[in-house]
Amino acid sequence: MAKKEKWVVRDKNKRNVFWPSVEMRERAWVGTDRFYKDAAKNPMDFWACLARDGLDWFKEWKKVYESKPPYFKWFLGGKLNASYNCLDRHLKDKGNKVAIIWESEPLEERERKITYRGLYREVCKFSNVLKKLGVKKGDRVGIYLPMIPEVMVSMLACARIGAVHSIVFSAFSGINFRKRVEDCGAKVLVTCDGYWRRGKQINLKKQADVAAKAKTVKKVVVVKRFTGKDELKLPMRKGRDYWYHELMAKASEDSKPVPVESNTPLFLLYTSGTTGKPKGVIHDTAGYLTQAYWTTLWDFDLHEDDVFWCTADVGWITGHTYNCYGPLSVGATMVIYEGSPDMPNWGRLWKIADKFDVSVFYTAPTAIRMFKKMGCELTKGYDLSTLRILGTVGEPIDLETWLWYFGCIGNGRCPVIDTWWQTETGGTLVNALPGIGPFIATVAGRPFPGTRAEILDEKGKPVKKGRTGYLVFKPPFPPGLLRGVWKNPKKYRDTYWREYGPKVYYTSDGAKWFDKHNIRVTGRVDDVMKVAGHRLSSAEIEDAITSHPEVIVSAVVPKPDEIRGQVPVAFVVLRPGVKPSPEVEASIVKQVRKEIGPTAKPHQVFFVKGLPKTRSGKIMRRFLKSMLVNEKLGDASTLQNPEIVGYLKKVVGYKRK
Ligand code: WT7
Repeated sequence: MAKKEKWVVRDKNKRNVFWPSVEMRERAWVGTDRFYKDAAKNPMDFWACLARDGLDWFKEWKKVYESKPPYFKWFLGGKLNASYNCLDRHLKDKGNKVAIIWESEPLEERERKITYRGLYREVCKFSNVLKKLGVKKGDRVGIYLPMIPEVMVSMLACARIGAVHSIVFSAFSGINFRKRVEDCGAKVLVTCDGYWRRGKQINLKKQADVAAKAKTVKKVVVVKRFTGKDELKLPMRKGRDYWYHELMAKASEDSKPVPVESNTPLFLLYTSGTTGKPKGVIHDTAGYLTQAYWTTLWDFDLHEDDVFWCTADVGWITGHTYNCYGPLSVGATMVIYEGSPDMPNWGRLWKIADKFDVSVFYTAPTAIRMFKKMGCELTKGYDLSTLRILGTVGEPIDLETWLWYFGCIGNGRCPVIDTWWQTETGGTLVNALPGIGPFIATVAGRPFPGTRAEILDEKGKPVKKGRTGYLVFKPPFPPGLLRGVWKNPKKYRDTYWREYGPKVYYTSDGAKWFDKHNIRVTGRVDDVMKVAGHRLSSAEIEDAITSHPEVIVSAVVPKPDEIRGQVPVAFVVLRPGVKPSPEVEASIVKQVRKEIGPTAKPHQVFFVKGLPKTRSGKIMRRFLKSMLVNEKLGDASTLQNPEIVGYLKKVVGYKRK
């Protein structure tokens, strides 16, 4: 591949708008608008064609699409297996191709390179381990692992036998893991002794033990990450806890992939909504995999010699789709990194990108803002000329950050693909494609071919260009879209299909048309915040705070933050007689860490005597949110306690802009 190739050109007339260069357009899988047009004419044929071309099937489907609002199905009656599509079918041509390049945090430890054949063997063995431990088709397996290859092995082993995995972010607390394990009724857990984070050994097994107490849990498999002088002495409970390597040593490599019907759940992923309880988003097999495959291939324009690096943790949907199912189903080589980007300094990621000739790099705005703070010199001494495409995801990206990413990391040569999507959508849905463009700073781009996005006003009418409204999707729904909420059909209906009725998927995001085709997403319109790209709910943090014995009630709202995008700020009413103090504050913060995890800890705590409430007793978080940014406050006359507003203004130091 020619180095220093320029993959973009600047728009002659418009600022901060870029187009693919001739080289990019010629190289790209999608290089003409015809894809969008044809797909729009008949989206079902379009997706059927993609499902057939992209995936290997054991049995062809009988019907492409069926809808019983608010439920829908794709590729009905078809049979396939996700692990077969990620592994077996590549063995003939790419058995020796590297699937995963794993880099550990400590510099002195060597990277691990796992080929498709190597990964296939591990997955087959682990699927037999799971079977021996009693896991059957449809059973749930709770996975609580950091960024080590065994997490992909575990996911694919579940998929191989038709079991449903539910991964919980390893930086979430054991209590949080337990809640999710209890909700989905996991039989087996997969975890590890620990991992490296910022030079510290994190003992994960200790947290996992909290969840292992859940009634449904029968067995716990523990991967050994630390050996030699780093070895952790762990209590292993007899008859319940088993070492991964010991079970694997005895496991057979002979494992037939179980064919499952297209709409069979592949995994659950818990995500935060507007209530205190996270919901288990259900993803199916065929629709999800079709979207994972094609979005990976087209958004990042992956070709045989590419090295793809998505920095997301596997605990989030981005990690599921773009660190496992997407790149593996297309047969790509990907990089995964265990540790923190500042270890031993902020040059670490560029060192890795240089070492492995990364060509596609996908990260979150919060990380880019951090790099930007460190300055453009950050990449000095590292050769990033293999980079061809840059991606971003997770929250709106501001103009300066976009330009910095484009200029300093991409050296003005690579498009920035700003992908909008959600845990619920399974794969990207709104973004520019590398061979089509345009790449417009702060604008996500076009709805993926074959999907129908609209921006509606309160009444359900399409908004005019430039007006903000609510981003929705119309049928046929993207194949990767969630198929339900685990054991909670009401929540599924109420969250996604109530705002505009059961035939319109409501995203909870604000958006506007930048021009005829391109969408700018403005962010969440519900009580969900994005803290360093992590999705957290106000209610969930409030529940954690209120579980503190000295707290009566609390309200948590986001406040803008230069690096993290948003940070949670808590308003807390203490029990009578309890005096506000730094100690009380510290113990409240500790409570949140314990119940949820460090990402959710309040950035600031205001001790107050009351909170703004509606006549029905609902706390008006909107008021508090506006107060923190000195915005105009809404009408206080609808409040039960309007007098509280003046008092709160003083507490936060409100000054109307
Ligand atoms: C929410 C979903 C999807 C992977 C990671 C996040 C926000 C996501 C963008 C973007 C503006 C974005 C939305 C969305 N979001 N990507 N490119 N531009 N906002 O998944 O944790 O389920 O969060 O993230 O608000 O609703 P998630």
